[in-house]
Amino acid sequence: MCADAASAALLAANELLRALLTQPDARIGLATGRTFAPVFAHLRQQQQLLQHAEFTHLDEYEGVRPDEAGSMALELHEALFAGTQPTLRLNMIDACGSDAAARLAALRAREPADFQFAGIGTNGHIAFNEPGTPFSAGAHVVALHADTLRTQTGRFADAFRGSRALTTGPRELLQSRRLVLLATGTSKALAVQQMLEGAVDSACPASLVRMHPDALVILDAAAAAQLTRQVDDRAACSFEVLRTLNAPGPVLCASPHPDDASISCGALLALCATADAHILCCTTGARSPVRGLTDPAAVAALRESEVQEEARLLGCHAHFLRARCYDTGALEADDVARCAQLLAHIQPAWILLPSAQDPHPTHRLTRFTLEAALQQARSLASAQASAEAAAWSPELWTFEGPWFQHPRAAINTLLHFTPETEARKLAAVRAHKSQLQRVPFDQGALALARLRGVMFSETHFGGLSAEGLHEVPLLECFVRERLS
Ligand code: F6R
Repeated sequence: MCADAASAALLAANELLRALLTQPDARIGLATGRTFAPVFAHLRQQQQLLQHAEFTHLDEYEGVRPDEAGSMALELHEALFAGTQPTLRLNMIDACGSDAAARLAALRAREPADFQFAGIGTNGHIAFNEPGTPFSAGAHVVALHADTLRTQTGRFADAFRGSRALTTGPRELLQSRRLVLLATGTSKALAVQQMLEGAVDSACPASLVRMHPDALVILDAAAAAQLTRQVDDRAACSFEVLRTLNAPGPVLCASPHPDDASISCGALLALCATADAHILCCTTGARSPVRGLTDPAAVAALRESEVQEEARLLGCHAHFLRARCYDTGALEADDVARCAQLLAHIQPAWILLPSAQDPHPTHRLTRFTLEAALQQARSLASAQASAEAAAWSPELWTFEGPWFQHPRAAINTLLHFTPETEARKLAAVRAHKSQLQRVPFDQGALALARLRGVMFSETHFGGLSAEGLHEVPLLECFVRERLS
């Protein structure tokens, strides 16, 4: 869930861009309507990433030509290109002729979407599958419900036009490889509640997302307002407690901002120093207010010097990505390519990185950049002659910090460190003097290590007792996974 519609749209755009980075020639199904307008505004800026993909859309008004005013095709065209010359591969729906539905059904059966966007209607429709449409239905022509027609008022001069539409069916939506549904605004809150908490059936066609093997639902707070169920993260968890580290190769920490590496995993990096440890500072952090400095270039230079000092204290090598996504807010192919070069060169055994659920957009973009770069780097590596390089398969260690804490049940690795290691970690955090003037991140890092210690003391360390602990353990917590 995102705080507002703008961040939900950005997340949706980034989901598509991520998919295109891994599969540039993917077949993309788009949705039209109010919700997707800000998504297209982001995508417009990324024509380069879009150029090898093939685009189609969900639905079209019956008997309306793709170039006719009011058509979905034209709406999409304008939203994606807005005055520029399109060079993209577009495969717009032809909704003219009595065989239009059969042609669309055959096309979708032959060419299911690799990535499908969808919205939801206030009555729970998805594409134009109105309530009552069975999940087994394929592409068909539908008489739009009164609720739906109300939202289309003014689209066509002739009131009879636009009352029926050709739509992709539930069957084809379920056959798409990935389905991303975006809903924003209070008007969608009841339909969203039905979709996610009501029965999975044709009364709410959008509830099919719960049957899809790879669906993502992106909501803003207004659209999520009627949801009643909470995620239950009290489940017992099993994990490994590490006191020393023995990395099988280089370790690389992707730090979204210059100071995140030491705040989130300073202890791990301090303990890794004998392995080959690297900090990749992903953004310049130039937007941070720094007392006495107004020039962003001067802020960036100061912050990079603080990273150099942090790296020296932790015994790591420092690298600087200076990612463009920091300014654009979107995943950038150039950041990904440069990051991939570095990863392919270092071939880290462990990559420490922020969570995709982190509410800070720069943290999430760092995650997505790293994931996409890793994919590219692994293809670069597999093309290398040595079998060892080709077999490179790093572990991802997702870290937490003051911005974001893992749900307890997700944590599978605890690093239990000593007060001496804590002192090294805090010294590294304090190397970022420009930041500590604003927020005492050293206290945040310390408090989190102790809070985690208290949380896990009794259940996993035997509590404070003669046989158990003499003091609260200091912990850094990770979700660790190996890429297949
Ligand atoms: C559009 C479509 C519809 C819309 C839905 C929400 O191609 O298939 O299902 O996604 O009606 O429309 P907006 O975003 O305008 O609220």
